Amino acid sequence: MLMATHADIETTYTFIDVPLRVNFGECFDFECAYYGDDPTLSVWDAQRNKHRATLAWLGFRPGERVLDVGCGWGPMVRAVRDAGGHGVGITLSTRQVAACQRLGLSDVHLMDWRDLEPERLGTFDGVVSHGAFEHFCSVDEWRSGRQLDVYRAFFRRCGAVLRPGRRLHLQTMCWGPNRVPFEDISFDGPPDGAPYLVALMAKFYPNAWLPDGPDQVTAAAEAEGFRRIDLLDGREDWIRTLHDWKPYRRKRSVRKVLNALRWLPRYLASPDFRRMVECGDRFANLVLLEREVLHHHRYLFERP
Ligand SMILES: C[S@@+](CC[C@H](N)C(=O)[O-])C[C@H]1O[C@@H](n2cnc3c(N)ncnc32)[C@H](O)[C@@H]1O
Repeated sequence: MLMATHADIETTYTFIDVPLRVNFGECFDFECAYYGDDPTLSVWDAQRNKHRATLAWLGFRPGERVLDVGCGWGPMVRAVRDAGGHGVGITLSTRQVAACQRLGLSDVHLMDWRDLEPERLGTFDGVVSHGAFEHFCSVDEWRSGRQLDVYRAFFRRCGAVLRPGRRLHLQTMCWGPNRVPFEDISFDGPPDGAPYLVALMAKFYPNAWLPDGPDQVTAAAEAEGFRRIDLLDGREDWIRTLHDWKPYRRKRSVRKVLNALRWLPRYLASPDFRRMVECGDRFANLVLLEREVLHHHRYLFERP
């Protein structure tokens, strides 16, 4: 297995497409918001704050083109458009492409970043990637020592479409100081234990292996000629985002019930699928961030 495959990504994002759109609206961020030390901000304001801050970090000016790698349901592409620019998104989820088309975000494509080249989508004044990097390296790639190569390939592809002197903003989780050794990841222990919760996340995001941390991500970027000009710790913000989402996740709706009925045969037939559901029910991501098994950062890189 070379990477989190298109089918893996489709499974995850098709499963959550309807419930998340019901919970959070049609054009939502499925990633860490940016509260900027403001205790009064709602999660929605903090997401808008992140869009504004990201464009400022990129040095964006109206009329410019910005690429979002792993654009999800389109919030950053829309923010670029609303700020007077042209946003282009790529994703491996057909549901997300359809959601973006419904919002009038027509320059969103079903495309792997591995196929990025200037001849296909042109060049850009900025590149954004929020919450997608976590998918890029597979367990097999990590085990065979190719993780850095995968990340280098990502920065090389981005560098090829980014104009000189311009910036790339990246948000990603990584392993934290209390990471669970690979051999210990299992469903054998207690369900509230870190090994069990990491095993649940591996079912939710199949074939994905996280980066070690900022040193590795930065080394990959620098090896491809990027210069890191900022690094922010995003763990507290990600924890707050996940807490703030909780009440919305409980929203009741007929669409959610009908969607659950559609997935019922798979739920009954597939133990892996039941684990995906359990992952959400146990708030595995949140608990693991709180215990520092996982961590999160925001990076700003510049292409000389
Ligand atoms: C957690 S979602 C984040 C979505 C969005 N950036 C946000 O902040 O809401 C991860 C995204 O990464 C995309 N993705 C994962 N691997 C990819 C790849 N190899 N090429 C392009 N997109 C990818 C998925 O399709 C999905 O859109």
